[in-house]
Amino acid sequence: MKQVMEYQAASTEGIRLNANESSLNLSEEIRSEIASAVMGIEYNRYPDDEETELLNAYAEVSGMKAEELLAGNGSDQMLGLLIGHYLGKGKTLLTLDPDFSMYDYYASAYEADVKKYDTNDDGSFDMEDFIEYAKDLKPDMILFSNPNNPTGWLVSQEELEQLAKAFCKIPVIADEAYIEFAGVPSCAPLVRTYENFFVTRTLSKAYSMAGVRVGFLIGNVKQMRILKASKVPYALSAVSMVIAKVVLKHAAEFQTAASATIQRREAMLEKLSSMERAEFYPSNTNFIFGRSDDKQELLDLFEEAGITIRNYDNDSFRITIGTEAENKAVLKVLQEFEQEG
Ligand SMILES: Cc1ncc(COP(=O)(O)O)c(C=O)c1O
Repeated sequence: MKQVMEYQAASTEGIRLNANESSLNLSEEIRSEIASAVMGIEYNRYPDDEETELLNAYAEVSGMKAEELLAGNGSDQMLGLLIGHYLGKGKTLLTLDPDFSMYDYYASAYEADVKKYDTNDDGSFDMEDFIEYAKDLKPDMILFSNPNNPTGWLVSQEELEQLAKAFCKIPVIADEAYIEFAGVPSCAPLVRTYENFFVTRTLSKAYSMAGVRVGFLIGNVKQMRILKASKVPYALSAVSMVIAKVVLKHAAEFQTAASATIQRREAMLEKLSSMERAEFYPSNTNFIFGRSDDKQELLDLFEEAGITIRNYDNDSFRITIGTEAENKAVLKVLQEFEQEG
């Protein structure tokens, strides 16, 4: 029997800064609007498998056409769709090290091999060198998060274009789960020029909707017609779609909230810039990435304070940007750690 890699889901106690969720629930106004909207659902009927209204709503927000979009149960499902469609036994996925662990999960589920290109301590890498590496490797798909989870590094649109052009025979995918925190536009319009280029997006992060599970795949119309046939029927419940439609009407408010998160992130990084026992890197996301030679001591202090952060096997860790109060609690732990050194 084949063995699928296990995914470690997030903790549910204390101050939770380990899963890059929004610390803010949907506002009371939006939740009331949702409460009335769900009253109109025909619960006895299967939902619209074409997801027409949801795709139209996201088309408006993203500036893409509905035919360039597919919706799924989280962007995870869209990543699974791409990996399941293009990869399998004997095929190779090229990604970065470090990057989002679900790529390994799906590749393992479809029995594909995964090769990882090592990035620098801050997540940066030279695109020319990456392209050379990939030309030698001859992968069947290139996929990485942009901005990167966990490093927060952002590859420019010009570099992504260079990549899509150099590998026009295989799918090149940018996972933009955190793009709203990058302060730059999405690379999605590139799908119109490069048929092999795809982007995934989600409502789980900037739209405070991790609990609802709605994500999108953006691609060239021609490719999307083909991929649609591989999509799980009725993947999105009528409830998720109705909620997402309400939330998307408030897109501008979520962009304002993302800007506030960016400000809190920059304030945190500024305060942490002089630390000697840990190093933090610039970020384009709703989290910060750090390294420390004394990481275990730091993790113990976070645990004592009831704060859950994301730990990795090496010297690195990742902390989600929370509310002012949560960030203050994080800073207190980090200051204590610094003083104990
Ligand atoms: C880089 C990246 N992509 C995708 C996802 C999954 O998002 P979703 O909730 O839409 O499945 C995450 C979640 O943490 C992520 O970090």
